[in-house]
Amino acid sequence: MSPQAGARAWPLCHESAIAEGEVRGFDPEGEGQDTLFVLRHRGQLQGWVNRCPHQGVPMAWRRHAHLNAAGTHVQCHAHGALFDKDSGLCVQGPCLGQSLQRRPLRVDAHGAVFALSDDGALEQLKEHKVET
Ligand code: FES
Repeated sequence: MSPQAGARAWPLCHESAIAEGEVRGFDPEGEGQDTLFVLRHRGQLQGWVNRCPHQGVPMAWRRHAHLNAAGTHVQCHAHGALFDKDSGLCVQGPCLGQSLQRRPLRVDAHGAVFALSDDGALEQLKEHKVET
């Protein structure tokens, strides 16, 4: 299926490029940093905005490094917050009880993965650029 009519969509990769338990960051609009990351968990691709609810900053310490060492949680490397991979809920750290923001994805019939528009989240990220 193609991205839904009326929605802005950015091609990211083929769905086979992200294996179970892996994460990839993307900068689909050329912001100079990864504004979202895609995680495959329980066989499903999940899109998340690369912004920590604690201080609103990008979370990886290097490109694609969005998980803790054990691979059990999404981690913000600024202050160590851990997030549940199913819900995005912070389960440990300074933003306990707050959640990551989902970034909607679409996978077409050929396996191409698209990020769908989420303009509000992207605008907030432009204020917090980091080297990747
Ligand atoms: S900015 Fe993410 S834990 Fe502080």
